[in-house]
Amino acid sequence: MTDAFRTITFQPAALRAVAPSYYKLEMPRDYTTPVLDKLQRPLRDLRISVTDRCNLRCTYCMPREIFDGSHAFLPRGELLSFEEIERIARQFLRLGVQKIRLTGGEPLLRHGIERLVEKLARLQTVEGKPLEIAMTTNGVILARKARALREAGLDRVTVSLDGLSDATFKTMSDSKVSVATVLDGIATAQTAGFDQVKVNMVVKRGANQHEIVPMAEHFRRSGVVLRFIEYMDVGCSNGWCMEDVVPAREILDRIALHYPLQQVEPSQLGEVAERWRYADGGGEVGVIASVTQAFCHECTRARISTDGKFYTCLFAGSGFDLRTPLRAGINDHGIANLIADIWRQRDDRYSQQRHLPTERARERVEMHYIGG
Ligand code: GTP
Ligand code: 5AD
Ligand code: SF4
Ligand code: SF4
Repeated sequence: MTDAFRTITFQPAALRAVAPSYYKLEMPRDYTTPVLDKLQRPLRDLRISVTDRCNLRCTYCMPREIFDGSHAFLPRGELLSFEEIERIARQFLRLGVQKIRLTGGEPLLRHGIERLVEKLARLQTVEGKPLEIAMTTNGVILARKARALREAGLDRVTVSLDGLSDATFKTMSDSKVSVATVLDGIATAQTAGFDQVKVNMVVKRGANQHEIVPMAEHFRRSGVVLRFIEYMDVGCSNGWCMEDVVPAREILDRIALHYPLQQVEPSQLGEVAERWRYADGGGEVGVIASVTQAFCHECTRARISTDGKFYTCLFAGSGFDLRTPLRAGINDHGIANLIADIWRQRDDRYSQQRHLPTERARERVEMHYIGG
C-alpha cells in the first residue's frame, strides 16, 4: 500500500470530494485478493445507468406528476461519455467485477449505445475471461435495436413488462405503448441470439397482481425466464407502502395453484432471484423478494449513476463523485484505488434495515438515475 493511499480519509456524504493524494498514485495496488467490504462482500457486479430519461412513466419509478413538464433531466455535458464509462469500467474489472449491466432510465434512448457495448465487449475480467454484458430495457424500441446490440457483443437482455393486457400496461407504465410492441421486442431479442432473455414484472397490489398467472402462462415454454419483483421503496417519489407489496410467497402460491413448482438451486453467489421450475418441464420462473427476504448479506453490486457517481446501495442517499477526478486528470491507478477504498468502507444493507424508523426517513436516490 502506498503512503498516499493510507492518508485518504472518508468524509461525510456532503463533502465526498477526492483527496488530492489520489491524483498522483503511480503504484498499482496488489489486487490478488478480492476487495471486500466491511461485511466481507466482494465486488462482482457493476450496473451503469447510461441515461436518466425514459419513454415510459411507470408509476412506481417515474410518476408523471413529478417527472414531466418542469423536471430537469441531466444536460448532455453532465453525462459520462462512452470513453469515460469504459475507463471507469476497466478499473472496476481490475477489482473483480465480472458482469456489467447497462441500465437507465431506458438505456436504448442513449444515442449510439451499441458503440458503448462494443467498447465494453473488448474488456476482460481479472481471470482473463470475457466480461459478461447485460442490459435491462423496457423493450419499447428493442425490436429495432436487438440485432445491432447482439452484433456489438451484448450477451443478455432483460425486459421489464408488468402485464399482458394493454389496460394493465397503461396503468403501470402511464403510456400509450401497446403490449404487442414490447412482446415484439422480446421475440426479436430471442431470434437475435441472446443467451437467455428474461422478463421482469414488478408486482404491485391493487394494480397488476391479477396478471401474475396470465404472465406465467404466456411465458411458460417460451424459453423466456419470467421473474416477479416485489414492489420496492426505491427513491422518494412513488409513495410506497408495505400494503402494496405482494410477497414472493403469495406470488408463488398463485402460480402453483395452476402449475406445480419445484425450487432450483442458486447458480451463483449474490443471485437476486430465487429460482423455481415448472414440475411439468414448462421452464423456469423466478421471484425477487427484496422486501420480504432481503439479500443484502451477499450483495456484490456497485452502481454508477448517469453523471458518474458511485453508489454502494440501491437505496443510498448520495454517491461518490468519480467524474470530477476523471475530468481533472486522475490516472487509472488513482481511480482503481479510489473505488477499492470506497468499497472497503461499504456497510450498506438497507433492505435488512428498512424497518428502522431512521432508515425509512432517509433521502434515497431515484432508480432511473442510479440504474435498476
Ligand atoms: P442477472 O442475474 O444478471 O440476470 O440479473 P439480476 O438477477 O441481477 O436481475 P436484474 O438485474 O434484472 O434485477 C432484477 C431486479 O431486482 C431489479 O430490477 C431490482 O428491482 C432488483 N434488484 C437488483 N439488484 C438489487 C439490489 O442490489 N438490491 C435490491 N434491493 N434490489 C435489487
Ligand atoms: N420496485 C421494484 N422494481 C422496480 N423497478 C423500478 N422501480 C421499481 C420498484 N419501485 C424495476 C423495473 C425494471 C428494473 C429497472 O427495475 O421494473 O425491471
Ligand atoms: Fe422507465 Fe424502467 Fe422506470 Fe419504467 S421502471 S419508468 S421503464 S426506467
Ligand atoms: Fe444491496 Fe442495498 Fe439492495 Fe441490500 S438494499 S441488496 S445492500 S443494493
